[in-house]
Amino acid sequence: MPRLTSSPPHIRFFFPFFSYIPCVVFLCFLSHAAESQIQDQELQVLSKLRQSWQAPSSLDHWVASDSSSHCAWPEIKCQEGSITELNLVDLNINYSIPPFICDLKNLTKLDLSYNNIPGEFPTVLYNCSKLVYLDLSQNYFKGPIPPDIDCMANLQVLILAANSFSFDVPASVARLRRLRILHLYMSEYNGTYPEEIFGLSDLEELRLEYNKKFVPSQLTQNFTVLKKLRLFSMAQTNLYGGIPKTVSDMEALEHLNLGINPLTGEIPGSIFALRNLSDLYVYETNVSESIPQAVSAANLRVIDLSLNNLMGNIPEVFGQLKNLYCLNLEFNQLSGGIPEGIASLPALSDIRLSNNNLSGTIPPDFGKFSPLRRFEVAFNNLTGALPKQLCHGGTLFGLATMDNNLSAELPESLGNCSTLLEVMLNNNGFTGNVPGGLWMSQNLTALLLSGNGLTGELPKELSPNLTRIDLSNNKFFGKIPSTLSSWRNLVEFDASNNLLSGTVPAELTVLPSLTMLLLGQNKLSGNLPTDIISWKSLTTLNLSHNKISGPIPSKIGLLPVLTLLDLSDNQLSGLIPPEFGQLNLNGLNLSSNRLRGPIPAKLENAAYDTSFLNNPGLCASNPFMRINVCNAQSHRSSKTNLTLIVILAIAAAICVLLVVLFKSKASRKNRDRFDSTPKLTSFQSLNFTESNILSGLKEHNVIGSGGSGKVYRIMVNPSGEAVAVKRISNNQKLDEELEKQFVSEVEILGNIKHRHIVKLLCSISCENSKLLVYEYMENSSLDQWLHKKKRSSPIPGVTNNMILDWPKRLQIAIGAAKGLCYMHNDLRPPIIHRDVKSSNILLDSEFNAKIADFGLARMLAKPGEAVTMSAVAGSHGYLAPEYARMARANEKIDVYSFGVVLLELTTGREATDGEEGMGLADWTFNHIQRGKPISDVIDEEIKGSSYLDEIIKVFELGISCTATQPSDRPTMKEVERVLSKRGHSQENIRWVLPST
Ligand SMILES: *[C@@H]1O[C@H](CO)[C@@H](O)[C@H](O)[C@H]1NC(C)=O
Ligand SMILES: *[C@@H]1O[C@H](CO)[C@@H](O)[C@H](O)[C@H]1NC(C)=O
Repeated sequence: MPRLTSSPPHIRFFFPFFSYIPCVVFLCFLSHAAESQIQDQELQVLSKLRQSWQAPSSLDHWVASDSSSHCAWPEIKCQEGSITELNLVDLNINYSIPPFICDLKNLTKLDLSYNNIPGEFPTVLYNCSKLVYLDLSQNYFKGPIPPDIDCMANLQVLILAANSFSFDVPASVARLRRLRILHLYMSEYNGTYPEEIFGLSDLEELRLEYNKKFVPSQLTQNFTVLKKLRLFSMAQTNLYGGIPKTVSDMEALEHLNLGINPLTGEIPGSIFALRNLSDLYVYETNVSESIPQAVSAANLRVIDLSLNNLMGNIPEVFGQLKNLYCLNLEFNQLSGGIPEGIASLPALSDIRLSNNNLSGTIPPDFGKFSPLRRFEVAFNNLTGALPKQLCHGGTLFGLATMDNNLSAELPESLGNCSTLLEVMLNNNGFTGNVPGGLWMSQNLTALLLSGNGLTGELPKELSPNLTRIDLSNNKFFGKIPSTLSSWRNLVEFDASNNLLSGTVPAELTVLPSLTMLLLGQNKLSGNLPTDIISWKSLTTLNLSHNKISGPIPSKIGLLPVLTLLDLSDNQLSGLIPPEFGQLNLNGLNLSSNRLRGPIPAKLENAAYDTSFLNNPGLCASNPFMRINVCNAQSHRSSKTNLTLIVILAIAAAICVLLVVLFKSKASRKNRDRFDSTPKLTSFQSLNFTESNILSGLKEHNVIGSGGSGKVYRIMVNPSGEAVAVKRISNNQKLDEELEKQFVSEVEILGNIKHRHIVKLLCSISCENSKLLVYEYMENSSLDQWLHKKKRSSPIPGVTNNMILDWPKRLQIAIGAAKGLCYMHNDLRPPIIHRDVKSSNILLDSEFNAKIADFGLARMLAKPGEAVTMSAVAGSHGYLAPEYARMARANEKIDVYSFGVVLLELTTGREATDGEEGMGLADWTFNHIQRGKPISDVIDEEIKGSSYLDEIIKVFELGISCTATQPSDRPTMKEVERVLSKRGHSQENIRWVLPST
């Protein structure tokens, strides 16, 4: 648990003891003297070590004291006063390992994982002759593993994973005969690995996975000596050819992962369970019942062969693996049926067989004996009914059977499965009603039932977590209910191609989060509701192929983000509302209705040339619109319009002229009022003057105000270019603190140019007022987007219903992390911001994040060094505990605050808004400490997306960043790296959560 630090009580010789047993005293004294000599030497080594690593703050407690020996420091273990273990995990060590570390002659364990150590493999460690355990994982080592590494002959544990080692894995590794644990996963090896590794008879864990640059190879045939191997992973290592039967020689195997390879051939079924009996039986899949007890002792818990090209059947004998917990065979070409036995495995929790060619029925006992959590058999040719008891264990959260030929009614029990998160049963042949309880299943976020033969009426009530419902291509009938208040969180609703009748109720237009509403190909009739109450997020509306009549509501033309509109093949009549000219549509179809009159001029665009067909009364002024050309009369009317427009334009021009005249006068006045001699210091070439700025300091230009003053948005030229101006103090004499902030901001920001740090264009300074002029950020600040419901939004064009979707949030997190990372690592001297919060993360028109407000920022002498600040400053909810207590801080206080921002992004809550009086950081940490599911606290607005796993990873990163101990927090570099990998690929991350 990262939040608790307990140093083991140090046991020291208790002095009064001497006086009672004089004989022992002498002996003890001798050995004590020898011990203290060793201790002194070793203490010196430690202090040199700390120095050579430039004294990272994580090792601040490495100072000699009389009251306790270094053996009591948490990183160190001693035996008889001599150091045997150094556990230097995640301590911000950025420099190489010095040779004198081996002066610790009794060192047996060295763990340097999760640091930033650069360079080649540290051959200086060859002198640590007693070393048994070496962990260098999660650093920046590169180059080859040296060919003479076998001189570290005592090594039993060698963990080099998650570095950038390249070239071959040398044969010398396989000459480390005592190895029990060998982890070489996630590196850059671009050569081969030595076959001799499989001859290391003491191996318990062999992990080579995620080395996709390995030269393609076939798996060895010879596993005979690996009798102790429990974990074997070669996922994504370019293995081709078949899986040899001899895999079964690894008798102790618990975890087998060969996923993401081009392996072919059949899964050599029997072998996984047969073990020593292979010489007694000529094993065939159809005699599984005769396999004796020995089989059930098989140890396998995890089998992952996903994403290969395996063919043939799933071996029957998998049904005998009593400890099997996870079976992942998805994305292969397996055929035949799902073996009955698998359905009754007592430990099975996670079964993934999707994307194969499996056929036959799903064994009906699935779930009856197993605590199933995920059941995925999608994209196969399975037939028959869905097993009735999938949720019997009360743990099922993922159910995916789409794209099979399953039939019959859905089991009623699915309606009583409150753990369900996603149910995807689309494209099968299910019939009958949807079990009533399913609509109301309290955690359900997505329900996909399209492409079946389901019937019944739409539910009057829905689970409040449901955001995505697809009922299309079924036989649902009846009216769309008008009691829709429980539908309010719906984001996507597709009920196309059913038998729905009645009208589109006005209540449907209330749903504020709806982005997609598809009701085409039903029997809807009557008029459309004229008053569209919300639909501020609606991007796609399809009501085509119904019998809807009456006029098109003009309010549809005012939907702010509508991009696809299909009202074709109805009985709509009247004019196309002129408001439609304001829509920015990628697709429009109004054809086959009874519309009449001219189409709005803005829609006379080749992009819409098939949008109006088959409406005999419609006309256009251009023949390319493929409808009637409007007659002379309408020409005349458009001419009158033109005259009107010209007159209006002239009037407007006069108005503008007057306003400009008036304004320039006013601005002169204003400038006079401002101050005697304003001094402008520019940091960029400017396309505006100081009077542009001064004349814009008007109340109606104010877009925000904070502790230090007001912020204005000021247009600086007629093309609409704007800048943001922060005015520090309001004509009073600046107090000292504000003056300091101004100087800090100018000093620091004026010299930084980085994509993710806001640009300071210039400063304007005079005796009692200071102005800072920045680039204007169209999308304001992150907090406005995340916490808009609790405040009114001042962002022009942004309504309270626009959702910041997950990809945008991740993009913002990555950008902000890059900005902070730059400040901490690339600037000399490094800078800490001290006031990272969502309102200081600004967003440009494309949602690129930029760090702003450097009023509290301070330069550090060097990275990692804690400095004492004159006073605690920063914002409530974002303050790192060590800073709040002692006003001592290094860059890890920014990591803490950034962690709070990550928690805001994932939970949607404000930094101060935990429950039970806690801030967000403490509250979320408490939540997971109590073992509650993370998904409970994820922001509802993004929860239903397909990114849930990713969101949870980022949430966990936020938890790590807000660890109480600064040394438990990752660096901004690590944070940035983890986030960027999330953003771009599914590659495994280098950095993972410390165990909580
Ligand atoms: C190693 O530890 C032993 C006690 O376990 C001690 O006697 C010996 O002096 C130590 N060796 C060194 C070189 O410190
Ligand atoms: C393997 O990678 C290293 C380091 O990037 C490079 O120097 C070497 O040429 C590569 N070898 C091969 C065979 O591609």
